Amino acid sequence: MEHLRLNGAYWGLTTLDVLGKLNAVDPDEVVSWVMECQHESGGFGGNVGHDPHMLYTLSAIQVLALFDKIDVLDVEKVANYIASLQNEDGSFSGDMWGEIDTRFSYVAICSLALLHRLDKINVERAVKYIVSCKNLDGGFGCTPGAESHAGQIFCCVGALAITGSLHHVDKDLLGWWLCERQVKSGGLNGRPEKLPDVCYSWWVLSSLIMIDRVHWIDKKKLVNFILDCQDKENGGISDRPDDAVDVFHTYFGVAGLSLLEYPGLKAVDPAYALPVDVVNRIFLAK
Ligand code: FPP
Ligand code: ZN
Repeated sequence: MEHLRLNGAYWGLTTLDVLGKLNAVDPDEVVSWVMECQHESGGFGGNVGHDPHMLYTLSAIQVLALFDKIDVLDVEKVANYIASLQNEDGSFSGDMWGEIDTRFSYVAICSLALLHRLDKINVERAVKYIVSCKNLDGGFGCTPGAESHAGQIFCCVGALAITGSLHHVDKDLLGWWLCERQVKSGGLNGRPEKLPDVCYSWWVLSSLIMIDRVHWIDKKKLVNFILDCQDKENGGISDRPDDAVDVFHTYFGVAGLSLLEYPGLKAVDPAYALPVDVVNRIFLAK
């Protein structure tokens, strides 16, 4: 986990917040460690001394948002780093080495929206590139022509939602593909013929909510599948029943339960993947 610790911090800390337990950690300690992960380019690495990448830059912004500490950032510098990774065709590279993927389009758009700096990029071209990754089955892949995948669908639908471009989605067609992800156990998979996996409770459900088709799955069966993936002795949630737990699946299990309106959990925003009160603090204050 060394190289992606900043993602791990986002998963773990957001879980704590959704559970109403963020006070279990010391905010100053977290914020100063996050800032140590920043590179002179403005981007963040996955750990102290690691190379910067868009994926960790979003996690840094999200963690700071949880603690209402976005103001410790040099927003201009971080926004310039992200904007520098947009390509001519509107797509985004993940870092200076150039890999292109719709994950990075989402990460760029979500980060800049949280910083109120979407004006730094060409949003129209970014949207055009995402739409060029739409497939005949209504889903989206990581590059044009690539197979539809629920993780990439979350990224594309999330980016389109944030930029007010959901009219590009065929909601009935995509809703059908997404609700077909529910298997007999009640769990969701990420692609046809794959095993169910708790993290798809997030990728699929959040997408269904954003396109207003969440009533097309059996919510009760999905709640039971997620609860069956808990380690009832030591805590945590695994990808499927009786596997080893990890912080990634714990977060997406808890966030999935929140989207299913499970009692006792804070509501999570399906596009920003942050608690709704945190998102409101950012957008209603400005
Ligand atoms: C599945 O990956 C998930 C994806 C491809 C989506 C990843 C999305 C991001 C990194 C954007 C940031 C996300 C949030 C919530 C802020 P996998 O490699 O596990 O796929 P597999 O199940 O096919 O192996
Ligand atoms: Zn998984």
